[in-house]
Amino acid sequence: MIADLGDAVGALALDARELHKAFLNLVVNAIDAMEPGGTLTVRSRRGEDGKVEILVEDTGCGMDEETRAHIFELFFTTKPSGTGLGMSIVRSAMERHGGQVEVDSAPGRGTRVRVVLPPDERRRRTLSSFE
Ligand SMILES: Nc1ncnc2c1ncn2[C@@H]1O[C@H](COP(=O)(O)OP(=O)(O)OP(=O)(O)O)[C@@H](O)[C@H]1O
Ligand SMILES: [Mg+2]
Repeated sequence: MIADLGDAVGALALDARELHKAFLNLVVNAIDAMEPGGTLTVRSRRGEDGKVEILVEDTGCGMDEETRAHIFELFFTTKPSGTGLGMSIVRSAMERHGGQVEVDSAPGRGTRVRVVLPPDERRRRTLSSFE
């Protein structure tokens, strides 16, 4: 697993438990999709507009268009013992924090989930008062 989180996420004020649950699901999904030897990459960066982008990428089985179209639906799963709750939780958690989730995937190529979150305004003001 490659994790390059820099200091970008430090500028976010989110419900820690909710954030933890959401990213845990993205990581578990990535691991479920891969055979041993696959690569999971987690990266973050802060754009010029102050937004924080977090990418969770895997080199797993990927998804066909039909599956990709349904992943945010509650109870949609292709796993024998999946509940299909994970991606619904991810999307609602991010939207509650003013963020967005995009999924880019292709069969055999792997999957990239891109989360974009706005910066925390209070902390931004505090930081800028020291600049
Ligand atoms: N990284 C990924 N690679 C390939 N398929 C994925 C990936 N992430 C999600 N999927 C597909 O989307 C479906 C829905 O994902 P979601 O996380 O909502 O539910 P789940 O993983 O099946 O069950 P759980 O509720 O335990 O998370 C998965 O069953 C799988 O088909
Ligand atoms: Mg899941």
